[in-house]
Amino acid sequence: MNDLEATALRYRDGELYVLDQRLLPGEERWLHCTGTAQLVELIRGLAIRGAPLIGIAAALWVGHSALQGEDHDELTRTIGELRKARPTAVNLTHYLDRLQHAVDNGQSAAKIGAVAVDVFEQDVALCAAMSNHGAALLQAGDNILTHCNTGSLATAGAGTAVGVIMQAHRLGKNIHVWVDETRPLLQGARLTTWELQRAGIPHTLICDGMAAGLMAVGRVDRVVVGADRIARNGDFANKIGTFMLAVLAHHHQVPFYVVAPRTTVDTACPDGGSIPIEQRDPEEVRGVIGSYGTCLWSPPNVPVYNPAFDITPAELVTGWVLDSGVYTGSQVRDGALTGRCRNC
Ligand code: MRU
Repeated sequence: MNDLEATALRYRDGELYVLDQRLLPGEERWLHCTGTAQLVELIRGLAIRGAPLIGIAAALWVGHSALQGEDHDELTRTIGELRKARPTAVNLTHYLDRLQHAVDNGQSAAKIGAVAVDVFEQDVALCAAMSNHGAALLQAGDNILTHCNTGSLATAGAGTAVGVIMQAHRLGKNIHVWVDETRPLLQGARLTTWELQRAGIPHTLICDGMAAGLMAVGRVDRVVVGADRIARNGDFANKIGTFMLAVLAHHHQVPFYVVAPRTTVDTACPDGGSIPIEQRDPEEVRGVIGSYGTCLWSPPNVPVYNPAFDITPAELVTGWVLDSGVYTGSQVRDGALTGRCRNC
């Protein structure tokens, strides 16, 4: 496998490294991946995160393990462990299916490694295509609201929703971004602000509960978000709080776009109700936990509900921005996500 370099993932001199996103923006520390169990824990703990990047890291690890001499049964066990790391993002399943297929076909270690490299390089190309399609939807001077982190920290390339924002900025559209802080793990406040600052894109951080007030006074022109899994009817799972934004956008007649690569579409999944939703540690809601320290502000053991994602129904989506183009609700109902659309 040749050397590969992304904002939060590196394959260098035959070793895999991930940028520890739990420490951002305070510290940029790279972790050396040395075992399957360690990588699973890094994914579960959100040291490495974002639907595409989780799957790409897992794919590179399988390629690396093949080159280290793991045989068919060992690679199958490695893939099985990685599959269980996080349940909602379907990219992980899709990429590991590709690797398992190569393993089951008796491919050489070099060929299995080449599949992993292709997963990485394909994502870079998919990000570029989505960014171009999505940027065309943004108007000069737009105020864009986004949620969670969907940039180069979450993919091998420019990102999904943040990729669109970056491209619109490069085109000189003079946009401004409202960044939802994204409780409980603050991916917006910690990571999206870090990326937008580095890119020099004007932005303002808000608490999640402030979006309604901004929309009510006309200060949000468009909402763009990413996805962890899109069902074939267009319903999709994304970071908890996304559904609330979609309801608000609908109420205020603000266009609402979801941006994702084809690897996030699950054609086997009929609708949002069939998407598995990850439940996380109650402590994440009882206070804040991170590199900034731990502060638990609720009574100990207070009952907590902590799903990592929610489902946005297709009827609230203005457009699905994929690498192949932008699709409307009627095109999605006509099969745009399964490749059977007659009017796309
Ligand atoms: O729990 P996370 O931080 O992995 O959640 C990430 C998101 O919800 C993103 O919006 C999604 O993965 C799309 S990123 C390209």
